[in-house]
Amino acid sequence: MEKALRHFFLLCFAFSLVFLSMGREVNARAHTRRHKRSNGAHYKKLFVFGDSYADTGNLGNLGNMLTTSWYEPYGMTFPHKPTGRFSNGRLLTDYVASFLGIRSPLPYKYRRLEVSKKLLPYGMNFARAGSGIFDNGNFQDNLTLQVDAFLWQVKAGVFPEYDLKSSVALVSVSGNDYKYYKETNGSDAGALDFANRLFQLLKSDLKRIQGAGVPKVLVTNLHPVGCTPYMTKVTNHTKCDSTALGEAQAHNQKLEILIKELNGASTKTFFSLDLFTSFNSIINQVKGAPKFESILKPCCDGNDNSSTCAQTDDNGMKKYSLCSNPDSHFYWDWLHPTQAAWAAVFEYLKPALRRFLSL
Ligand SMILES: *[C@@H]1O[C@H](CO)[C@@H](O)[C@H](O)[C@H]1NC(C)=O
Ligand SMILES: *[C@@H]1O[C@H](CO)[C@@H](O)[C@H](O)[C@H]1NC(C)=O
Ligand SMILES: *[C@@H]1O[C@H](CO)[C@@H](O)[C@H](O)[C@H]1NC(C)=O
Ligand SMILES: *[C@@H]1O[C@H](CO)[C@@H](O)[C@H](O)[C@H]1NC(C)=O
Repeated sequence: MEKALRHFFLLCFAFSLVFLSMGREVNARAHTRRHKRSNGAHYKKLFVFGDSYADTGNLGNLGNMLTTSWYEPYGMTFPHKPTGRFSNGRLLTDYVASFLGIRSPLPYKYRRLEVSKKLLPYGMNFARAGSGIFDNGNFQDNLTLQVDAFLWQVKAGVFPEYDLKSSVALVSVSGNDYKYYKETNGSDAGALDFANRLFQLLKSDLKRIQGAGVPKVLVTNLHPVGCTPYMTKVTNHTKCDSTALGEAQAHNQKLEILIKELNGASTKTFFSLDLFTSFNSIINQVKGAPKFESILKPCCDGNDNSSTCAQTDDNGMKKYSLCSNPDSHFYWDWLHPTQAAWAAVFEYLKPALRRFLSL
């Protein structure tokens, strides 16, 4: 049980980091109306890399102890059945695609299936839940492998150069690497050196995406990992965990530096999607933030500390309970936001994203 649980965590995510109370207020104008494209910028394809905050179906179904995202109630809100998304509905990838005015891109895993005919025009999603920049001791393709798969598709002519020129890439890095590092190394010792190596690799993968001809690359910064229900459980979901504050800050600062460096003086290829500030504004109910119920408590929770959302026992009996209205909860399970949370978060991201993409 212990082991399966640990796998589950590895699978989904990251919690080494932490809550950081940034008082910065984001001016989130909750316009849901569709933006107008003003100056002809037009993106036709989205290429997605990373982990469970972006995976729309690449991680295979390995049974409900490991890959709960393929079991009810995942997907209950959209599309009313599990699709491998770690949420009750849409997640970051879906909102970015919708913002570009296209459909959510084809999961790489489905490239040989019939559905590819329909979705290939919108790009491809290589993200796999549980993955990191390094290997995390699981069956998840690391970021380098995901980029390899992308370049292979390009080389095979699936996405011609012309298409790449009008595409956007989304790279979701949510912290699985730090979690795994701590588990395997038993401590934080050497974490700084580890982070430096992580950023070296991230840099080279980002450059490879750019090198393929993608003109706009969005990279997520770390969300307040210490506020995920898994971390807040010890306080009955009343307080975010602040133990890894320094690491969270360090990661997001390093990311800013990397993006500046990659962009240099002239290009505006790279952009950090500020998940930290947007999550944080909602979690701390900064003025103007949409309201959510008991914000640090998951909608879908295991009945005891050895079970998680969507798990059933050998007789098919549920080992979890579900809130009455997922739309009123920020967190869906121990690690992942609800669709309503992603929608709210995305409203915060939109203004800067619109400027960056000149939309
Ligand atoms: C990524 O995965 C490949 C294949 O398993 C492996 O050879 C490579 O060393 C991994 N890269 C990193 C940085 O862990
Ligand atoms: C674990 O920490 C030690 C001490 O800093 C470091 O030398 C070592 O490289 C780390 N292990 C891994 C797997 O990175
Ligand atoms: C945790 O909070 C719930 C209500 O939110 C309450 O019913 C329960 O008694 C609390 N448990 C502990 C151990 O404080
Ligand atoms: C659940 O957690 C509580 C408190 O952290 C602990 O006392 C208890 O032994 C745990 N139960 C199981 C089944 O692990």
